[in-house]
Amino acid sequence: MIFPPRGLDGCPRLTLELDADGDLLPRILWAGVSTDGTAGPSGYPSTFRGPGMPLLGEHAHELFTRPHLVGHRTDAPGSDAAWSTRFTLDGVEESDSLLVVRAADPAAGLALTTEIEALPGGLLRGRHTLRSTGPGRYHLAALDVVLPAADDLAELLDFTGRHEGERTPQRHLVTDGLWLREGREGRPGLSGATTAILGTTGFGTRTGTVLGVHVAWSGNSSLRVERSPDLGTTLGGGELFQPGEIVLAEGEEYATPWVVFGASEEGLDGLAQAFHTYERSLPAHPAHQPVVLNVWEAVWFDHDLPRLREIADRAARVGIERFVLDDGWFHGRRDDTAGLGDWWIDPDVWPEGLTPLAEHVRALGMQFGLWFEPEMVNPDSDLHRAHPDWILATGDRVPQLHRHQLVLDLSRPEVWQHVHDHVHEVLLATPVDYVKWDHNRELLEAGSGARGGASVVRDQTLAFYRMLDSLRALHPAIDWESCASGGGRIDLGVLERTQRVWTSDMTDALARQHIQRWTAQLVAPEYLGAHVSSPVAHATGRTLPLDFRAATALFGAFGVEWDLSTASDDELSALAAWVDLHKRFRPLLHSGRVVRPESADAEVLLHGVVADDGSEALLAHVQLDESASNRGVTVRVPGLLPDAAYELRWAGPVDHRAVSRSVELPDNGPTGGVRVTGAALAARGCWIPRRRPETITLVHVTRAGEEQPR
Ligand code: GLA
Repeated sequence: MIFPPRGLDGCPRLTLELDADGDLLPRILWAGVSTDGTAGPSGYPSTFRGPGMPLLGEHAHELFTRPHLVGHRTDAPGSDAAWSTRFTLDGVEESDSLLVVRAADPAAGLALTTEIEALPGGLLRGRHTLRSTGPGRYHLAALDVVLPAADDLAELLDFTGRHEGERTPQRHLVTDGLWLREGREGRPGLSGATTAILGTTGFGTRTGTVLGVHVAWSGNSSLRVERSPDLGTTLGGGELFQPGEIVLAEGEEYATPWVVFGASEEGLDGLAQAFHTYERSLPAHPAHQPVVLNVWEAVWFDHDLPRLREIADRAARVGIERFVLDDGWFHGRRDDTAGLGDWWIDPDVWPEGLTPLAEHVRALGMQFGLWFEPEMVNPDSDLHRAHPDWILATGDRVPQLHRHQLVLDLSRPEVWQHVHDHVHEVLLATPVDYVKWDHNRELLEAGSGARGGASVVRDQTLAFYRMLDSLRALHPAIDWESCASGGGRIDLGVLERTQRVWTSDMTDALARQHIQRWTAQLVAPEYLGAHVSSPVAHATGRTLPLDFRAATALFGAFGVEWDLSTASDDELSALAAWVDLHKRFRPLLHSGRVVRPESADAEVLLHGVVADDGSEALLAHVQLDESASNRGVTVRVPGLLPDAAYELRWAGPVDHRAVSRSVELPDNGPTGGVRVTGAALAARGCWIPRRRPETITLVHVTRAGEEQPR
């Protein structure tokens, strides 16, 4: 059986070949890319198919690798054997986009439903639902969704990071044994793996066959790659539980988060495209991403209406479309030591409320955005003084503070309702178009006092979704941003509910280049908040030219974090030109295909966006630092129409003095006005000489003879 049965939208898609003939769980014989639903080893004699793997790896089938289901039963006489299951098949239902497999193990008292769904873009997502049908209590320790991987996918890429340094790539050779990345922070985290990607030797952004996995979940999760000398390689993931977290009584069930898989024979860019296409199909996907100004790095906690008005005036002047008031507006919040939990406007700082600022902002033609951190509380807050027991904790021990704050126990209905209603009231009373929803600390010792201190990380995650969903329903016109000290809560679970993410607190554009490049492996650029900061980057102390800062923000969800009250008239005009350039290119940047051509120069990053119909592209040549050679760089432009002729022009402000070989950049673009075919641009590309460090050179590729559309 091939699933999905045919190439749904003609795009290359991850396809499974399954053997569902026996009375046990189907075996997955093959997982790989197919364009028409017929690829794969279907029809091969079974001896040539490779070992394959059961849909749920069980010990009983001679699997000595990490089981996909781990659990045991207590409190029911005669049920001690339930730790080892051997499910038998109850039925398989298949449609064009959904495969449902039902199985049961009556002796263990368990029923299993596995759904595999084909998604736009060529992804597959899978989840298991496990129901306890037996007496007593079934203690679930792990339930993963896992696929087999071809044995030539011999290298593994995933990500790590830190505050102001999210999604640093790391690579390994696949070896025998288990490789496990666990996220135990109660959120994907700043050091989160985000995705695990297997690929053929030497795979890169443009080349190689790759198979990737991501867990669409904003709580604890794990990603796993395992290679066994007998069974080959597998790749998968699931939710991660703290001990005792999931206990099923008879009739209760647990569903895993969706575990999302994608594959590509065109390297990491093909895989990124599959995820971006899926995200663009989501109902919550932003149809339009306004240009933002966020005042956090401009005023910090120092809220002053006249000053904020002045910044808003200047923001409107440069073409900003949304003004966001960050942390510091609510009761007692003069710094980060107090106030979290007290979600009402501080009358000392805002005697007339936020409406005068919001109305000023709106009168200037901009939307008004506001910062919240609903899941958190400072010990120094009215809320905590009134309800010290409302925090997540195990027993009487108060978890170690981080950023002077604790996490509220949203698994308790009264806590959830209190926070929900206070946020709702602020949103009712103030004209708010946008909410930046932050989450600045990990869940540490996340037990609930209402349950004797038992772990409630899963319930907390579900409560967060429920609260956000309820507020979205109550305020349907509001756009939402997911932030967690920067990019600490970026996953497909939260992207089903939000229109933007704050990619990183790192607003130094040089460091940002890498963070955006690799966050875009999972997330489409229109989500990735990218702000022009002040000339001296607050995070690094580095001074960067405006053109470099703005061209770095250009491709994402463009914004400004700079205190515009300190900017000169020349700087404001230059910034306005960049805002205008972003707006003109925005339709292309936020719908096209992300390409990251390989660069032979370690100090040059290449990236860009190619229109879906191949009609145009915008490429960036990012000279990070001094190159070791004078050779310059070849920029290959994939994805254009092979036979069409194109013209290449510079876009944005370009300093025409190149550095290498004393050449000057031709005024009329890298090919000096000569038209080039799409095939030539893909195969040979264009050449850009060595540029000065901290320079971004933009190339706009358009169909020859057409009006320059931007
Ligand atoms: C986090 C966010 C910042 C800002 C501060 C406010 O660090 O990432 O952008 O909102 O909180 O305290």
